[in-house]
Amino acid sequence: MSAISKIKQKPLLYPSAKIGKATLVQADCFEWLRAAAPESIHGVVTDPPYGVKEFDDDQLEKMVAGKGGIWRLPPSFDGNVRSPLPRFTALDAKDRERLSVFFNDWAQALLPALRPGAHVFIATNGFVAQLVYSALIAGGFEFRGQLIRLVRTMRGGDRPKNAETEFADVCSMPRACFEPWGVFRKAMPPKMTVADCLRTYQTGGLRRYQDGLPFEDVIDSERTPKAEREIAGHPSIKPQSILRLLVHAALPLGEGVVLDPFAGSGSTLAAAEAVGYKSIGIERQPSYFKMAEGAIRKLAQIRLPEIDARVNGPASRLALFGGK
Ligand SMILES: C[S@@+](CC[C@H](N)C(=O)[O-])C[C@H]1O[C@@H](n2cnc3c(N)ncnc32)[C@H](O)[C@@H]1O
Repeated sequence: MSAISKIKQKPLLYPSAKIGKATLVQADCFEWLRAAAPESIHGVVTDPPYGVKEFDDDQLEKMVAGKGGIWRLPPSFDGNVRSPLPRFTALDAKDRERLSVFFNDWAQALLPALRPGAHVFIATNGFVAQLVYSALIAGGFEFRGQLIRLVRTMRGGDRPKNAETEFADVCSMPRACFEPWGVFRKAMPPKMTVADCLRTYQTGGLRRYQDGLPFEDVIDSERTPKAEREIAGHPSIKPQSILRLLVHAALPLGEGVVLDPFAGSGSTLAAAEAVGYKSIGIERQPSYFKMAEGAIRKLAQIRLPEIDARVNGPASRLALFGGK
């Protein structure tokens, strides 16, 4: 585990850790972004708190206690013990307004730190995607499309609450079989072409895979494997298999810095390590910061031969952590 140092980011001091090419910072990302060097970030891959409030201290306490709050805790489903999942169907009008304000503010805090042409990949879900997208567009981002991560989650498909027997043939919303990710870009200067943006800012496009094929907007994915969940027990940990593809695409020339402002377990930073990119992750909760500090190297070292060949080429992994 790397030593926690204090890095200076004017005018604020935050606990931070350096792990390979990754810098992990314990801070509120809004505060951090407002003090970040202008135009210093080349791409963002992130998975925010969708319902905004599920990672607030009071909600996390309820999740741990297994009682109340936004985290749904049914003990089992089809004989399997289930992990806690936030209940976004429980968002009321006030929560939805809070969510819009949150992502609008976030867009405005993030934009100055991004280089023109920088892409943002943001995880969401079918229930809140339109709210998140509208708020980011209102906050100043260009909408560049949507990416579909094909994965069957436990979201949706439930019978009407407290009337499961009465309406046994009904589900209140579709069972989620994909996870939408918004693809956004900070506008390039007026009249600038993608080619000029690549030359000037190293941004503007998306990196092709190492075999020359274009980055595609439907990705066959999986739930996060047990081995990764055992390394980092974050309730929302995303799999390395998708993160490595997204992080790779986010830097079109393979140059620059990828940011994850809601770093959680550090999985995006681990993916950046595996791809060989510099990265910065911001995590507000001290316990998740510590978790990420211990997990990044281990997650990065997981071998995914097919994915790694697509993003690193065949000889890729030998350079990682001195080839260990
Ligand atoms: C959905 S989780 C991200 C999980 C991550 N993708 C992973 O694979 O582990 C969102 C994370 O953002 C953190 N968070 C929430 N608000 C934050 C803020 N304002 N600044 C920094 N981190 C924040 C939460 O503590 C949580 O760990």
